[in-house]
Amino acid sequence: MSLLKVNDLGVQFQTHDGFVYAVNGVNFELDRGQTLGIVGESGSGKSQSVLAMMGLLAKNGRTTGEALYKGKNLLTMSPREMNQIRGDRVSMIFQDPMTSLNPYLTVERQMTEVLELHKNMTRKAAKKRAIELLEAVRIPEAARRIDMYPHEFSGGMRQRVMIAMALLCEPEVLIADEPTTALDVTVQAQILSLLKDLQRDFGTAIIMITHDLGVVAGLCENVMVMYGGRVMEYGSANDIFYHPSHPYTIGLLGALPRLDHEGGELMSIPGNPPNMANLPKGCPFSERCSFASEQCVNELPPLVPSTADSTVLRACHRPAEQLAQLSEEVVHG
Ligand SMILES: Nc1ncnc2c1ncn2[C@@H]1O[C@H](COP(=O)(O)OP(=O)(O)O)[C@@H](O)[C@H]1O
Ligand SMILES: [Mg+2]
Repeated sequence: MSLLKVNDLGVQFQTHDGFVYAVNGVNFELDRGQTLGIVGESGSGKSQSVLAMMGLLAKNGRTTGEALYKGKNLLTMSPREMNQIRGDRVSMIFQDPMTSLNPYLTVERQMTEVLELHKNMTRKAAKKRAIELLEAVRIPEAARRIDMYPHEFSGGMRQRVMIAMALLCEPEVLIADEPTTALDVTVQAQILSLLKDLQRDFGTAIIMITHDLGVVAGLCENVMVMYGGRVMEYGSANDIFYHPSHPYTIGLLGALPRLDHEGGELMSIPGNPPNMANLPKGCPFSERCSFASEQCVNELPPLVPSTADSTVLRACHRPAEQLAQLSEEVVHG
């Protein structure tokens, strides 16, 4: 049985203007120790997909489908059951560490409280364990710094404290929602390498959410590319990076050829992410896609194997062969 199996996950929000279909038909599986990257521009449905699984949607949100954690559906669990899993078996880290850290408590107090509560540890044993975790996330002088308040740490160090907090109960799944977006490039690289080591040492499965394909490159086995609340392409990181076959993925990978420009000059994806309250009836990306046909505008492409013998799933009406040349140019210059 997979650790996590998501079947046809959907998220809908009720608004004054009607329903917003923020997530539609998302499927994936995550096994022990695996890493899945969820990539897409802002507003594509990445966060709502995982917030739905954690029972953390806004009040106007509803879910459809299933998110099975060891066979049990997280979407229909009672709040009590959910509380036992969230933060314990499945935990989450965010872009802003202050969403999970309490500014009024020392790091020691917030970490030991969790261990006392979830693991029935004594304060003394809990403190020892908390220091070990702060050391595992490479906070220098952890034994001294554990008595500090969150604001006394730098941004990068605070991010590490949050990761240590998330690992306290040795979760089986760690969901990281843009954890490095606010950090400068050097600190970002350190945090990513840290997550990689933690995964190796703790065997934690990771869902890494980012708008930056570069972030998932060295970390993920599989990558799911989302746009307009739908999966555009899903496959091994290797396939997604070296043989992308969806125009949106190719666009994300850095550039799309200017079809209106002789010489095939490269540029980033023109246009803006879609208005979720008013999506085209066909492919959500059709408005910005240089390859869109009338069929793309009118008919939603199903997510199916890219070619007959491919393990890559792709939602695009254009045959993959037509995009192979373009993909080659973007990837290999
Ligand atoms: N409470 C809400 N009410 C209505 N729409 C929402 C709500 N929360 C999120 N959405 C919509 O869901 C879409 C997907 O959001 P999200 O998953 O947070 O995007 P991202 O990929 O940037 O993480 C957004 O475009 C937004 O319009
Ligand atoms: Mg988000």
